Amino acid sequence: MIDRIHHVGIVVHSADTALGFFRDTLGLAVTEDRVIDEQGVRGVLLGVGENEIELLEPTRDDTGVARFLATRGQTMHHICFNTDSVDAELTRLKGLGVDLIDQEPRDGLAGRIAFIHPKAAHGVLIELATPPAGAHTSHAKGFDHLAVTVADYAAAQATWERLVGLKVTGEVRPEGRGMVIGQMHSGQAVVELIAATSPDSPMAQRIAEQGERASSMVAIEVKDIDVEVAKYRAKGLTLPDPASGALPNSRTSTISAEQAFGLAIQLIQFDR
Ligand code: CO
Repeated sequence: MIDRIHHVGIVVHSADTALGFFRDTLGLAVTEDRVIDEQGVRGVLLGVGENEIELLEPTRDDTGVARFLATRGQTMHHICFNTDSVDAELTRLKGLGVDLIDQEPRDGLAGRIAFIHPKAAHGVLIELATPPAGAHTSHAKGFDHLAVTVADYAAAQATWERLVGLKVTGEVRPEGRGMVIGQMHSGQAVVELIAATSPDSPMAQRIAEQGERASSMVAIEVKDIDVEVAKYRAKGLTLPDPASGALPNSRTSTISAEQAFGLAIQLIQFDR
């Protein structure tokens, strides 16, 4: 059974340089760091509560990850979900005729892993992982949410339920933004399906230009956003003043993707 987001993977030019941000500035602890020769990558996992961020640095030029970096630059590469049996999930997905990259599980940084083809998931590359016994665990909240932009909201809901068992259980239609946010809970985090509700909205334009994809962003809940923003500004980062977010009763500020090795870090405070 799939029970939570395991990690988001981002491709970077240099894991060492990226660690200067994720480990030293954000203060995340490294839980795994090794070179996987047959895949031509150095992978580093950093814990964020019950979730992790995976840095992928190509160690050769002839791999999919290296080509991804060359064409797309540093950005989010995949979203990985935790399951107690990647074998059982693959059998189930094969039975549904889902397009898979891996027909059989293989060894990866996060344990036994397999990838679903992004064609099957509205442009999102999804990894499934069954970590080994003794792997990093935490029961603390990690990500607040991730976001996926979709062109066909109803079709995307059906796909996400079929592939990974997530269901839209809440909807937010922010005033004047011409979009709907469908909230799917996975562990303590939410995967948001974001669709345009009017053809001339900025979101409709963004989806027309970029296609359906995962936003290269994670949102992390903070208790006092003013304190957090001041803290990161003191470390030399540029953050906008906190402002009302798209979610009700929220204030957000974001460390831009340019400053965060391609993965924007949205800080979000809820006044509840
Ligand atoms: Co991964």
